[in-house]
Amino acid sequence: MPALDLIPRITLKAVQACSQADLDVFHAVLVKSPEVIPEGLPERIGRADTLTFVHVGTALAAIGALKRPPENYRIRKFTDAKTSERGSDYLIELGWVYVEEDFRGRRLSGAVVQSLLPIAALQRCYATSDATNHRMHSSLTRRGFQLTGQPFPSERDARPLVLFVRPPVPVTA
Ligand SMILES: CC(C)(COP(=O)(O)OP(=O)(O)OC[C@H]1O[C@@H](n2cnc3c(N)ncnc32)[C@H](O)[C@@H]1OP(=O)(O)O)[C@@H](O)C(=O)NCCC(=O)NCCS
Repeated sequence: MPALDLIPRITLKAVQACSQADLDVFHAVLVKSPEVIPEGLPERIGRADTLTFVHVGTALAAIGALKRPPENYRIRKFTDAKTSERGSDYLIELGWVYVEEDFRGRRLSGAVVQSLLPIAALQRCYATSDATNHRMHSSLTRRGFQLTGQPFPSERDARPLVLFVRPPVPVTA
């Protein structure tokens, strides 16, 4: 059995409930990700919906987020991916998943995705990922996301991205 201080502790926070210190810590980790554009990142974090913080012991080991991007942005991504799904139907994006290097390989990216699903459960949700990021693909598909469309160039450096979509979970009586 792992020592208690090695068990990941997951904290979800609505962005509106985050302190400036929370936002700064999230930014300090996210800005290391090769998949984000650093310009304007603090403002974009401030417009997100929910942030996930995963601590192992006292260390912040992983983060992730739910975002509500503008409709024109969503439509552009879905058009770029040449999918038959419609960006206007997918209000929520799951993204900004980042695991600190010392904590990789412990399936924390799946824990981040899993933590955010209850918030997104009743709505269609999408995610994009580098086309070669097989670990992220696995964490998404294991949790109900499906690959759709074709690879398309990222806005940051034109590396190919792929699009994943997740249907809403039906409500049962
Ligand atoms: C991508 C990233 C989040 C993955 O986290 P990680 O700690 O490295 O990977 P995990 O331990 O969580 O493993 C994720 C999945 O990949 C699988 N995996 C591990 N090694 C793998 C490999 N070589 N090839 C394919 N899958 C692999 C794991 O089994 C796990 O799948 P499962 O849950 O279905 O069993 C992390 O590497 C990272 O932060 N990278 C930089 C930022 C980034 O690319 N973020 C994604 C933005 S969408």
